[in-house]
Amino acid sequence: MTKGFTVAIDGPAASGKGTISKAVAAHFGFAYLDTGLLYRAVGAKVMLGIEPLKAAQALVPEDLDGEALRTPEVAQEASKVAALPDVRAALVDFQRSFAARAGGAVLDGRDIGTVICPAAQVKLFVIADSVVRARRRFAELTSKGIKTTLEEVLDDVQARDARDMGRADAPLKAAADAIEIDTSALSIEDAVAQTIAVIEAAMAR
Ligand code: CDP
Repeated sequence: MTKGFTVAIDGPAASGKGTISKAVAAHFGFAYLDTGLLYRAVGAKVMLGIEPLKAAQALVPEDLDGEALRTPEVAQEASKVAALPDVRAALVDFQRSFAARAGGAVLDGRDIGTVICPAAQVKLFVIADSVVRARRRFAELTSKGIKTTLEEVLDDVQARDARDMGRADAPLKAAADAIEIDTSALSIEDAVAQTIAVIEAAMAR
């Protein structure tokens, strides 16, 4: 029944989409792909001097591991390489095959509902106030031992949102048929419960 069932979860930086995606994937037994990691891994390689397209074409699963990809510096570089159409094109097939796997899949990112999986059975667009997002991300990074400040995190979030929304290729935006969830004043439990209800309704159709 869940063969090829795809849940697309998009939204701006640190909106809570990763936390929601992981929880709903575990709830339904779906596979989960954090597509931001693909761009972060390419960004990290560019910081080492590798050319962006070459880095994207040569990505291997091990490149997606490690807390080093989580820093605001790598996030900035990710958002720069993510504006390059040839980098995005090099990552499409992997994401689409992941989405089509038997047993269901959740993918989160910026263009999943609009470009990667426009036929996804469920599309969500997760938003939250930028200061709330920066506070949450700051707490998350600090708890992982990554040294930063709230100001740096807020700058990162706002600069990436502007770049991600403003690029010509696959800009960050909600698909016309996406359901919006504003997590500014929601607990994780409530955001996850809302998402599960949306997915159950889609499965029952
Ligand atoms: O976790 P957070 O929301 O802060 O960022 P992320 O999902 O790890 O994505 C890092 C960067 O990758 C974003 O700012 C985007 O520029 C880019 N990205 C993208 O362009 N398309 C995606 N599907 C996912 C990420």
